[in-house]
Amino acid sequence: MKKLYFGTNLKMYKDIKETTSYLRELQNLTKDISRDEIELFVIPSYTSLNSADSCVDRSLIKLGAQNMCWEEEGQYTGEISPKMLKELNLDLVMLGHSERRHIFGETDEMLNKKVKCALDHDFIALLCIGETIENKNYGISDEILRIQLKIGLFGIPQDKLTKIWIAYEPVWAIGVNGIPATAEYAEEKHKVIKECLTELFGEAGKNIPVLYGGSVNPFNAGELIIQPSIDGLFIGRSAWNASAFNELIRNTKKIYLDHH
Ligand code: PGA
Repeated sequence: MKKLYFGTNLKMYKDIKETTSYLRELQNLTKDISRDEIELFVIPSYTSLNSADSCVDRSLIKLGAQNMCWEEEGQYTGEISPKMLKELNLDLVMLGHSERRHIFGETDEMLNKKVKCALDHDFIALLCIGETIENKNYGISDEILRIQLKIGLFGIPQDKLTKIWIAYEPVWAIGVNGIPATAEYAEEKHKVIKECLTELFGEAGKNIPVLYGGSVNPFNAGELIIQPSIDGLFIGRSAWNASAFNELIRNTKKIYLDHH
């Protein structure tokens, strides 16, 4: 079977103690699932990363940061540098989450610098993209996704491609007020993304995993994962309880296997 990706971004939730107990529980509950079949990752808050590093077996759960500066050091008050994240032995860095783009004004050009910097420091760069409801209503979602990919991944050399993951998260689908995309809609956009990645990188672009995110829950996860262009699920609220996340992973994987 193809490897299925399951990950969660803890956003600005869970303190150090809550994060470590969540990670311990998640690791315990999921350790028997073959990591040839799934890739599991968690992206805690910055302040929890140090403790998270010491309580997780990285062959079972990859750890990531929610953001990163594109410079190694300098006069960038409030930013966290790749060198600082390197000290924490992180596997990946998430870049361009919708909340970073829309609340904190991150642009595609900034994200391109961040993606390059993350790859230079040997992190997996998880680039998040997605259209707003206005983009969707104007019928320009595909163009927006292509722009986000073409600028965000501009100038990335072919030999770094294995370190790029994409999360497609329609902005209107994310969070408490989000409306989950239908599996058909998500598949359609994943196809656009995969086509754009192939256009940018040739055949190798086809191997870049593309995850769907935005109100994934135990009821829609199965339908999403069986779509041919969806390689995994990037989950917020429905993954923040370790046992619920474990169940979602197992049930979704079963649905995938039954379908193939
Ligand atoms: P949600 O969050 O699953 O709670 O909608 C998704 C995300 O922001 O990545």
